[in-house]
Amino acid sequence: MPEKSISIVPGVDWVGVRHRDLKVFDDLFPTHNGTTYNSYLVRGSERTALIDTVKAPFAAEFFQRIESQFPVEKIDIVVVNHTEPDHSGALSALIERNPEVTIYCSGPAKNFLEQLHNRPLNVHVVTDGEEVDLGGRTLRFLMAPYLHWPDTMFTYLVEDALLFSCDAFGAHYCSEALFDDEIADFTPDFMFYFDCIMRPFKDKIRAAVAKVEGLPIQMVCPSHGPVLRSRGMNSINAYRIWSAPPPESKQPKAVLAVLSSHGNTRSMAAEVKAELEAQGVTVSEFALSDMREDDFRNALEQADVLVVGTPTIQRDAPPHVWHALALLSSVTLRPKLAAVFGSFGWSGEATKMVESRLTGLRLKLVAESVTCRFTPTAEVLEACRMLGRDVATAVTAGKKSQG
Ligand SMILES: [Fe+2]
Ligand SMILES: [Fe+2]
Repeated sequence: MPEKSISIVPGVDWVGVRHRDLKVFDDLFPTHNGTTYNSYLVRGSERTALIDTVKAPFAAEFFQRIESQFPVEKIDIVVVNHTEPDHSGALSALIERNPEVTIYCSGPAKNFLEQLHNRPLNVHVVTDGEEVDLGGRTLRFLMAPYLHWPDTMFTYLVEDALLFSCDAFGAHYCSEALFDDEIADFTPDFMFYFDCIMRPFKDKIRAAVAKVEGLPIQMVCPSHGPVLRSRGMNSINAYRIWSAPPPESKQPKAVLAVLSSHGNTRSMAAEVKAELEAQGVTVSEFALSDMREDDFRNALEQADVLVVGTPTIQRDAPPHVWHALALLSSVTLRPKLAAVFGSFGWSGEATKMVESRLTGLRLKLVAESVTCRFTPTAEVLEACRMLGRDVATAVTAGKKSQG
């Protein structure tokens, strides 16, 4: 049976594909309900544009769906809102069939496309706010970088008030119906998607949401999941709320993340904490073997400094420590400063390894790490106090320089 497009409004059609049996997206995030790769055909009286393509293995089905409305060979413009292969994968096949098509995309997208497709491309780089007239229909390009790659932008169809937002406001959810008001509640998938894909870019989301605020929006047409016919503005509002900046506080905040197999690193942590608090720093302490991930991730978005206490086990930091450090890149990480300490039995590599991970994430170490063999002596505990003092001084100075 030939694949059929679905009308969004007269002259604008969904021509994407359904990936019903997808279990893990990008080999990273589990999908309970598969996903879709959405693409939209927009026809003006003079020119026709395709907004985004689909994942390469779905090209044949994609072309069938386009051809139910319009010949692939006659498309004038393909807008690439984002170059990740789930959206640009079928572009090469499209160019094979239509070598004259002009690609409209951001500057970073042009570079990525060239390296993804390794072929000459007919590209027009668009600037923020630039418009193209299709004949009675106008596409306006709005730069929205880092939602969630540096190349991302939105395309707004002025006359129909449709926002083609690519990955933003999407959900990995596959249904035979297209519109949000025709299907079961998919809020958990919408939230999970934000948490996995968008959360590390809250500051960029705030900028993008501000850019579309005030625009009339009839529907939000993302590149994954349902078209948001009834919940377009709600979805934008949800992103606004979830991306709100942490409350400003004059008092500096520290996250103290500790794992202690025999209590020695914990004894050191107690001194560090006491000194930080004595210096006016609010401390959120996490026992890394027994914490709720969400609490830790939320605290990382509010703290000014991260202090890690780790033992060395089998010449390494324990898995719980590495797991906590892996979570740092899953949030909009606020701390720019860090410090490390820990007790060890015979070799003591863990503190150096943790230092390396933290500096690799561009945190600055603000105190010399304190280590000790087995039980901390009075001198070691005093060194921990000193570490707490150095951290407090650095973080307080940082606060003052922020005004
Ligand atoms: Fe993406
Ligand atoms: Fe995507």
